[in-house]
Amino acid sequence: MARHLITSAIPYINGIKHLGNLVGSQLPADLFARYQRGRGHEVLFLCATDEHGTPAELAAAKAGQPVAEYCAQMHAVQADIAQGFGLSFDHFGRSSSPANHTLTQHFAGKLAENDLIREVSETQMYSHADGRFLPDRYIEGTCPNCGFDSARGDQCDNCTKQLDPVDLINPRSVISGSTDLEMRETKHLYLRQSTMKDQLEAWIDSKTDWPVLTTSIAKKWLNDGDGLQDRGITRDLDWGIPVKRGQQDWPGMEGKVFYVWFDAPIEYIACAQEWVDAGKGQDWQRWWRTDMGAADVTYTQFMGKDNVPFHTLSFPATILGSGEPWKLVDYIKSFNYLNYDGGQFSTSRGRGVFMDQALDILPADYWRWWLLSHAPESSDAEFTWDNFQASVNKDLADVLGNFVSRITKFCRAKFGETVPEGGAWGPQEAALIAELGQRLRAYEGHMEAMEVRKSAQELRAIWVAGNEYLQSAAPWSTFKENPEQAAAQVRMGLNLVRLYAVLSAPFIPFAAQTILTAMKCDAHSWPDDMQTALGALPVGHAFEVPDVLFAKITDEQREDWQARFAGQRS
Ligand code: MF3
Ligand code: ZN
Repeated sequence: MARHLITSAIPYINGIKHLGNLVGSQLPADLFARYQRGRGHEVLFLCATDEHGTPAELAAAKAGQPVAEYCAQMHAVQADIAQGFGLSFDHFGRSSSPANHTLTQHFAGKLAENDLIREVSETQMYSHADGRFLPDRYIEGTCPNCGFDSARGDQCDNCTKQLDPVDLINPRSVISGSTDLEMRETKHLYLRQSTMKDQLEAWIDSKTDWPVLTTSIAKKWLNDGDGLQDRGITRDLDWGIPVKRGQQDWPGMEGKVFYVWFDAPIEYIACAQEWVDAGKGQDWQRWWRTDMGAADVTYTQFMGKDNVPFHTLSFPATILGSGEPWKLVDYIKSFNYLNYDGGQFSTSRGRGVFMDQALDILPADYWRWWLLSHAPESSDAEFTWDNFQASVNKDLADVLGNFVSRITKFCRAKFGETVPEGGAWGPQEAALIAELGQRLRAYEGHMEAMEVRKSAQELRAIWVAGNEYLQSAAPWSTFKENPEQAAAQVRMGLNLVRLYAVLSAPFIPFAAQTILTAMKCDAHSWPDDMQTALGALPVGHAFEVPDVLFAKITDEQREDWQARFAGQRS
């Protein structure tokens, strides 16, 4: 049994995520976690909310709530929606947890001990109109790298370059729009990651199996321009983790907090402690400390491409720089962007479909299937209502749903709701078994490689093979001359239904469970030998015809939703 540690990029606390966020991290991570569990491996799947930083402060202010209260409430909202989507986190933690406070301060202490932190007296933008220092994200201006006119102070969304606010051309306050900005003196801590460039580069070069999207972004920021820059890891804010060296005060750093991007990835580790604190597991070190049992753990991270620099450079610099035996990531699966109907999804502009809205109009499996089978892997992808309707109706309703309904109903009508015996299977069944056996190995290969689209294609091909078999075996015709043979065909069909539930569960867990319940079967172990797997429902086994699994999306619904989601979220 292998051991898989799996994390999804932790979503910002402010607001509900859109489908583009979902498909870029949480959903594919869930697919992989469910698959590895299905294969019988030991999995720890963690996610959390990313609660610090100015966006949280400002969103709380807007909601008229103290920030801690706002975060607690939004955490519950996000946890609820995650459950609605079937995201099977072993724990959904919070970056504001006591565990993360302690661990973040611990890392800062170790980094300081190892001479990897320097104190910098610098001038920072202070906004007179707003009466405060402006954090990076609240300064916008023109990107010095690509000329994009709405680059944020921390990163350019257009070219992904990590920035410092002083780099911006024509900076303005995002809060007030004011350009009455003054540079004021303030002291901050910098992580000396430039001194670790060779170590980081060697580590990345050793990852020859990583997706090109991941390594190309990492290499770009390692070697671009002046190479890897030291990063400021503190901010002048109230809300966050107070700057300390371990448990000790840090002279000169009073009233400051760690930068959100410093403490957020550390939450991946703290989350495992929260999981134990919540009584859901024990011995978190066994997952995170190579000196305490984690040496045989395979650690996989899922994220959108904008997160790659932090996960390939900054967080590994924190881990390596600590000099302690923490588990480093083994594989980073990153995604391009999903666009929405001719433009971009946008949280700030409320453009696109958000997770709560999606669940209001359709069950989670419809979204899961479309999003995963169209995951933005090799390039950006686009959600359109036409495409969504077509693939849900075709793949889920016509192929899988129709198959399940047709064979179970036919059996009920002719043989009752138990698996009939009939004669032995012949060459047609042998050919089907051979094809399915091959396709299963291909499906497993794609899933292991986290090739999400290819996995979906192979799964669909597995459904199609069953449909084609049923179509050509045609037990409804066979039944007239040869009821024995028809019974054998039906036995095959019913066993295919169970097999499909097991194989499809990582993609569409709710429908898979509905099918298994109807088939009165709790055998969800992963098939090894195809012939054996197709005998799992023995002769005489009772089942029930399930309710309609997938209703088709009508043209009227499609038009209605298209119009409803064309504007901004109110
Ligand atoms: N909150 C960030 C985002 O949504 C992701 C943080 S991932 C972590 O882009 F590494 F910081 F944990
Ligand atoms: Zn740019």
